[in-house]
Amino acid sequence: MNVPLFDTSTVLEPLREELRAAVARVLDSGRFILGPQVEAFEREMASYCGARHAVGVANGTEAITIALRAMGVGPGDEVLVPSFTFYASAEAIPPTGATPVFCDVDPQTFCINAETVADALTPHTKAVIAVHLFGNVAPVAEIEALGVPVLEDAAQAAGSRAAHGRPGALGTAATFSFFPSKNLGCFGDGGMIVTDDAHLADEARVLRFHGSRDKVSYEQLGYNSRLDELQAAILRVQLPHLDDWSDGRRRGAAHYAEAGLGELVTLPRPTIGASPAWHLYVVRHPEADRLATALADAGIGCRAYYRTPVHEQPAMRAWGEGLTLPGTEEAARTHLAIPISPVLSREQAEQVVSAVRSAV
Ligand SMILES: Cc1ncc(COP(=O)(O)O)c(C=O)c1O
Repeated sequence: MNVPLFDTSTVLEPLREELRAAVARVLDSGRFILGPQVEAFEREMASYCGARHAVGVANGTEAITIALRAMGVGPGDEVLVPSFTFYASAEAIPPTGATPVFCDVDPQTFCINAETVADALTPHTKAVIAVHLFGNVAPVAEIEALGVPVLEDAAQAAGSRAAHGRPGALGTAATFSFFPSKNLGCFGDGGMIVTDDAHLADEARVLRFHGSRDKVSYEQLGYNSRLDELQAAILRVQLPHLDDWSDGRRRGAAHYAEAGLGELVTLPRPTIGASPAWHLYVVRHPEADRLATALADAGIGCRAYYRTPVHEQPAMRAWGEGLTLPGTEEAARTHLAIPISPVLSREQAEQVVSAVRSAV
């Protein structure tokens, strides 16, 4: 039997009728943009995260741009961002007028930390984007202790926990993506900004609607970036199950450890106090490409996500050229995502480990 890289459909099977009913209710209501579903989901997601406010936007990329602008980031500022992440974490910075400054990651956790941030700080640093990559939780408190505001990019970390709260309530603000394959995914694009800061939330609400409060006066250049009612209704059905699904992801990682995967490859290390809801389960091996070929031949889904780090991407040349980021390069060269999902069984994990054992 093949083992797929991820499985987003099995857990939705028992929710099909509820999802259909939620979609039908929106259809019958005739309200499609910024209505009661979005408002309710904003309340529910803020409460889930342990924060006061949430603002639904069109996707996780615009969530970052809007959150940065609501934090006061603009032309002349620098924003620190890891280079080992999905491209959008950095792509979202230049539209604010600020400059991306790439910082290194710890390849063991795939996250930035106080040390890598301190190396990249300058007097122009206005904010740090801490990406909770693969569901691990970047150490936000130790970065904030350097005296710089943190925006959490929690696109991959819905359902994860840190020692003192959830992603969404650790930094000044946090952003989520509800892209369908995420831990909490809708049936299209969607995103959200979560924060305790009422002023920041208010700014984000204005920015997501063309920079206007009343559709009469347009006080600043904004965006047309809203979560829609259908997606919010779909997400409301799923949110109550996120903790169970996250436990399933942790169970999958435990099956791997019990089957001896750690003797064959380097396992991802949770940051101190973190309980990651592994969005992707990413191991490291010096010959990751050879391992990938062998696993694919054995019917095991696997993928190297970020072989070329963001600072080496052509569009980032102006900000990335000539940089040396050893942790990033190590992670980029050696990482490989292997199957994980809320329903990865012990048998499937053993099959993956056995294929890894044959390959290495
Ligand atoms: C770490 C990270 N940041 C940002 C994004 C952007 O989210 P979206 O695709 O919803 O724009 C994603 C996901 O796609 C992501 O994985």
